[in-house]
Amino acid sequence: MASVSWMAVMLLLITCRESMHCDGLTVDPPDDLVISELGQFGRLQISWSPPAGQINETECSHLYQLEYFNSYSDSWSAIRTFKRTYTAQFDLMKDVRVRVYTLLRGPCTNDTLIKSSSYTEVVQKPPSTGVGTPVQDFVCVYHNMKYVECNWGRSPKLPANSQQHLYFWHKELEQAEECPTYVKTGETRSGCNFTESSLPEFTDINFCVNGSSQEGPLKPAFLSLQIQNQVKPGTTEKLDLRTDPDAQLDLRWNSPAGRVPAHCLEWEVEHNQEGPDGKIASQQIVTNQKSLKLPSIHDTQRNCFRVRSKLSKYCANKGFWSEWSPQTCQPENREVASKPWDIVPVYVYIAFAILAILVLSLCVGAVLKVRSLRDVKKPDALLANLFARSSVVTVTDA
Ligand SMILES: *[C@@H]1O[C@H](CO)[C@@H](O)[C@H](O)[C@H]1NC(C)=O
Ligand SMILES: *[C@@H]1O[C@H](CO)[C@@H](O)[C@H](O)[C@H]1NC(C)=O
Ligand SMILES: *[C@@H]1O[C@H](CO)[C@@H](O)[C@H](O)[C@H]1NC(C)=O
Ligand SMILES: *[C@@H]1O[C@H](CO)[C@@H](O)[C@H](O)[C@H]1NC(C)=O
Repeated sequence: MASVSWMAVMLLLITCRESMHCDGLTVDPPDDLVISELGQFGRLQISWSPPAGQINETECSHLYQLEYFNSYSDSWSAIRTFKRTYTAQFDLMKDVRVRVYTLLRGPCTNDTLIKSSSYTEVVQKPPSTGVGTPVQDFVCVYHNMKYVECNWGRSPKLPANSQQHLYFWHKELEQAEECPTYVKTGETRSGCNFTESSLPEFTDINFCVNGSSQEGPLKPAFLSLQIQNQVKPGTTEKLDLRTDPDAQLDLRWNSPAGRVPAHCLEWEVEHNQEGPDGKIASQQIVTNQKSLKLPSIHDTQRNCFRVRSKLSKYCANKGFWSEWSPQTCQPENREVASKPWDIVPVYVYIAFAILAILVLSLCVGAVLKVRSLRDVKKPDALLANLFARSSVVTVTDA
């Protein structure tokens, strides 16, 4: 019981030091909390003003604690600042939630930190106006780190005669720009090719896909990504496969030409092993080397390989697999390995048929022979019996 009340006192003391009004001093949360769009599709400016009330600024200064829900990481982020504005990146397709507390510390609080007991909050909903549904399946690929191409899926509720636009913004641009070259599927725009015009790496690129139709503006979609996480390496064109003197299979290949750092690539090798029975056993080997040795291989097997690559987790958060290289096999020619196995079953069938006919005719012949000999056979059997008995007797006598 004593320890419980002691705990309670301790808790009260801690709470007093951190926030409350032990000496009667309290502070209100800030006023005029506003979220402003900067035309940057997700970078939002949050601003507020100090709470109304008499605080002697020379004795005590205001500090603010800003908390916002980070929908990219699905968690709350918090910062403390003396300023009255803050800019952060938000996912505009989800609720934007911002809370601000006022903090006070200085001679007026006897140097303890006082925090407002409540916060000022603003929740901004995703855009709800517009025709149809926002574009789906938006994917950007940084092809061999040479050019970025973004594509989106066709939204089922897209009104006829609508025209979609893609705008983008990143921190090197004063204001948003429109896609330099649209990619079309039939008559409708389905993507944007940034061709040689470069987008910066390691910074958020914010996109907006909006549009107009006869029924009014289309519902916009907002997306954000960093292009170093969208790399799809080039295709490996050639594999070098040879057999070592010690009957090992030796596979080698090169990194695709381009800007992708070779040390960043991890490889997947697909090994298809075609056995004498025509069955293919497939296995995947992941490696960071550009070569592979496989121990003693049977002559009766055909070994085929192809490789593809991807940025490893040490170089990018994610990425795309490259296309598969062309397949290289040993023996090279499929005919050599597979032709006999196409023909052998026919031989087997023929041999089997001949054998079956032979056995059948033998059986028939035997049955006929037995029938014709049945009468003659009875004395023979008697004789054989007699002989058997006499030999048994002989054995017992001896
Ligand atoms: C603030 O506090 C300082 C020092 O205690 C004092 O000199 C000053 O007059 C006060 N200002 C106001 C506006 O109360
Ligand atoms: C301020 O803190 C000091 C030391 O912690 C204490 O002695 C003093 O009484 C406090 N003053 C007030 C007004 O709370
Ligand atoms: C996009 O641009 C690149 C570079 O100019 C080009 O190689 C590629 O074929 C283009 N893609 C499409 C779908 O037009
Ligand atoms: C699409 O967004 C851009 C950039 O914010 C804007 O200038 C344009 O008017 C918008 N178009 C439509 C049809 O809403």
